[in-house]
Amino acid sequence: MAQSTCPISGENRRKTNYPGESLAAGVEVIDGVWHVRDMNVAREVLRSRDTTQAGFNVEKTRMGHIRPPILFSDGEPHRTQRAAIARYFAPKTVDANYHELMETYADQLVEEFRRDGVVDLAQMSMRYSVIVAAQVVGLTNSDYDAMATRLNRFFDMPLAPAESTPGRKTLRSRFEVLRVSSKAQLPMLDFHLRDVRPAIKARRKERQSDVISHLIDAGYSELEIMIECITYGAAGMVTTREFIGMAVWQMLEHPELRSRYLAGDKAERYQVLHEVLRLDPIVGHLLRRTTAPVPVVVDGEERTIPAGTLVDLYIRNSNADPAVVGEKPLEHCPGRELPPRVGAEVMSFGDGAHKCPGNSLAIQEADVLLQRLLKLPIQLATKPVVQWDELIKGYEVRNIRLVLEQGA
Ligand code: HEM
Repeated sequence: MAQSTCPISGENRRKTNYPGESLAAGVEVIDGVWHVRDMNVAREVLRSRDTTQAGFNVEKTRMGHIRPPILFSDGEPHRTQRAAIARYFAPKTVDANYHELMETYADQLVEEFRRDGVVDLAQMSMRYSVIVAAQVVGLTNSDYDAMATRLNRFFDMPLAPAESTPGRKTLRSRFEVLRVSSKAQLPMLDFHLRDVRPAIKARRKERQSDVISHLIDAGYSELEIMIECITYGAAGMVTTREFIGMAVWQMLEHPELRSRYLAGDKAERYQVLHEVLRLDPIVGHLLRRTTAPVPVVVDGEERTIPAGTLVDLYIRNSNADPAVVGEKPLEHCPGRELPPRVGAEVMSFGDGAHKCPGNSLAIQEADVLLQRLLKLPIQLATKPVVQWDELIKGYEVRNIRLVLEQGA
């Protein structure tokens, strides 16, 4: 049976703090933009059919005649896409098709770590996230480790100095690359030619049960498929890498949490992981634009968001909204009591039409690797560093070097 007590009371366990952020809840309208920090209002907006995606710079992106990737699309074409890919992400499918592969690859990575005695966790978790997501997407006709290196090079490109905030370490947003994706950047071309093209070629000959096969059937061009693959790389592979990094950091710094995780059954382990994700959501903000007046209830009062309004949804605040998650919202309390129909990770996977399809895949794959890794006598050899992706107020944890304890 899952327990719901906090391992340690009274502590702020959130590891990431966006410079200057306030944890206030509520709703504020500034220069016509609605800033929503209230979880229930955020959910109403995300569930409304009268909104379109406005995050990830979609409004500045000119796709021309190219079909937009799933994250950028809305309305009927988006619903059709989601319905078609849902089967690849169903928990039963994930369990039946990918669990064994997760175990095999996690064993291999952990064995390499035991042999070397030291590992850069961001590299290890990227290799792992790439191989798992690649199965679902259908990127299985090239070398996985080389593909992880190519994607790393691509997503970790530094921001041009003119765009960065002075004094703050920022990264080119991993989602920003979608905007520039029509320009043939070298790392993208590399990914296209070495990973995507062979996968398409193999599936044109023989379809498989994966996203690329579906896209071929739906008439997507090679370029459109490539852009969709980049989307999965940014939305699925990189996010899971960060999640694994954060979970390891939390558990190595809090041994009682690690013991609880390792001793728990699947439900208890998942509670710990969801709580890690609630406290430090990988994606900090989502944006939507209303296409018609959208009624919402703010502090018990009915209000209407006018048509054409940009709505900024603060996931970091929503996840710590005391009206939803209870007192001491920044404590780590796996299995904390939540209102009906609020998931344990609260808004970390989004909600509504664009809600993350990979949510159960991400938790399951992280659990498979973490169980193996955290069982070992390991410690942090470096102080992790948090960097911010300004576009989505998402974080990246770097400098997590793990070592095996002496004599292990
Ligand atoms: C811990 C890991 C993950 C986190 C925190 C995460 C978070 C999110 C969030 C917040 C969204 C919603 C974006 C929006 O509403 O605008 C999203 C969408 C998406 N995610 Fe995930 N995700 C994770 C893992 C994955 C995985 C493993 C995959 C696939 C292999 C995946 C594929 C996608 C896709 C394709 C979308 C776009 C869906 C749409 O627009 O309809 N994600 N993710």
